[in-house]
Amino acid sequence: MEQTFAVIKPDAFAAGLAGQILARIYEAGFSVVGLKKIWLSEAQAGGFYHEHQDKPFFADLTGFMSSGPCLVMVLEAPKAILQWRELMGATDPAAAAAGTLRRDFGTFIGRNAVHGSDAVETAAFEINYFFAGLELL
Ligand code: RTP
Ligand code: MG
Repeated sequence: MEQTFAVIKPDAFAAGLAGQILARIYEAGFSVVGLKKIWLSEAQAGGFYHEHQDKPFFADLTGFMSSGPCLVMVLEAPKAILQWRELMGATDPAAAAAGTLRRDFGTFIGRNAVHGSDAVETAAFEINYFFAGLELL
């Protein structure tokens, strides 16, 4: 089994889409081993997305991620990292395949509804950034 880190971002949470997205997660066969609602500070969002700190979109990204509450999750499946990236779809909702979450629930590249880890190392960092071991059941 593999674990990945997922977020229902502030745009999707504020739009009331958390229930529909969670249903799609369960339908896809993931186990939700960690789940909580949080409201990040801008500094906490910056720590989470530290790999992008030199990118031109960093300030918009951290501002958006700290603009309201979101749901953070740890998902488990045999190939959870790749499977969750496939269910999310491409970063830009306009380029995301039909039936993906970003295509169905995203607005544009800067408001794309969900996050997912992109590799084993980033999944480990992100899970530890948000969850204590005792919260993963
Ligand atoms: P995420 O980390 O949120 O799951 O998204 P991702 O892996 O598909 O894309 P990544 O390259 O990690 O970018 C992180 C978030 O930054 C925003 N972004 N804006 N050109 C742009 O304006 C641009 N590029 C990226 C997106 O919201 C993306 O989810
Ligand atoms: Mg990313």
